[in-house]
Amino acid sequence: MNAPHTVPSPVFTGTRLKGLDFANRLSVAPMTRISASPSGVPGERMQHYYERFARGGFSLITTEGIYTDKAYAQTYKGQPGLTDRQQAEAWRHVTDAVHAEGGRIFAQLMHGGALAQGNPYRSDTVGPSPVRPKGSQMAGYHGDGPYALPREISESEIADAIAGFAAAARLAIEVAGFDGIEIHGANGYLLDQFFTDFSNRRTDRWGGDIIQRFGLSLEVLKAVRAAIGPDVPLGLRLSQGKVNDFNHKWAEREEGAARVFEALAESPADFVHVTEFEAWQPAFEGGETSLVALARRHAPRLFLIANGSLHDRKRAEEVLASGADVIALGRGALVNPDWPRLAASSRDLRPFELPFLAPISDIKDSELAL
Ligand SMILES: Cc1cc2nc3c(=O)[nH]c(=O)nc-3n(C[C@H](O)[C@H](O)[C@H](O)COP(=O)(O)O)c2cc1C
Repeated sequence: MNAPHTVPSPVFTGTRLKGLDFANRLSVAPMTRISASPSGVPGERMQHYYERFARGGFSLITTEGIYTDKAYAQTYKGQPGLTDRQQAEAWRHVTDAVHAEGGRIFAQLMHGGALAQGNPYRSDTVGPSPVRPKGSQMAGYHGDGPYALPREISESEIADAIAGFAAAARLAIEVAGFDGIEIHGANGYLLDQFFTDFSNRRTDRWGGDIIQRFGLSLEVLKAVRAAIGPDVPLGLRLSQGKVNDFNHKWAEREEGAARVFEALAESPADFVHVTEFEAWQPAFEGGETSLVALARRHAPRLFLIANGSLHDRKRAEEVLASGADVIALGRGALVNPDWPRLAASSRDLRPFELPFLAPISDIKDSELAL
């Protein structure tokens, strides 16, 4: 048992984003759990999985990455979608359950691009340029061997992908009952492939310097904003590392980060979600400032969600002090769906152990019993 804390921790203070009140600064990070039906419909298992986090005291939950169209977006077998009414109506059970427990839930919308490894709608993949992704397919999501060599996505397919994000966002808000939208611009998926110099060799308007490469994310934000109206919280997740290239760093360093966060502050986004392996570390070798602090400095207007090894409460407090509004827990929340309640009463937290997600990262019975 830890000693009881006498001073109230900043993690338990309330905050507000647009019209939404949050009782504390604790959110669940997006986590793909490939537990939907083969047609991308979330079921009761997923409902129970998500509602536990709200019951456990997390004021915000961001869903796993949800695919946005029936062309090239789906990335993993068992991934849920938001591409038709059946999928959207099934999500309604999840959002109702979370709301009944007093939580809020944002849909994370994602397009896998060249990292798609289990898409029943297409047998090939697309990316900004025909560059084979680094690393290998994710075994925990039924993948095996190297990624496919993507075909260069055409201008009209880019328009379709943008429209897919907008349509999925509309379904998320109007039918599924989500409280906000997070666009997945991080971790190596399509928007990050455009953002990354290694994977984007284009010479048209979607390629070039860091802001040109960021252009697709900005266009998606615009299209989604038009689809959901001005009042719904909308944000973008950004990272340096990728699921297939953990140590990637933005070559443009602090100066590039400044330009990106400034562009985002001018966009229709309300929030930015930054993720690093350890959120408090300097973002660039030899530098001093974390990505969280850079986001705060260059996008003071934006609500800021920070993620990365923050399951230790002192670390979480440190990152809130460096400018984050809310912190997001991934692995710590998986093993402690009641992390806020445990931490508030200074009870011991369960340590994360990898076998928890093995051999396949789907939702386990043992987990639902936690
Ligand atoms: C099983 C698992 C699935 C994940 N799936 C996603 C995802 O769908 N979308 C996303 O943006 N990040 C995803 N992530 C990354 C997490 O959101 C988070 O960034 C990562 O776990 C680091 O945070 P942590 O140190 O609190 O665990 C996933 C992580 C895990 C462990």
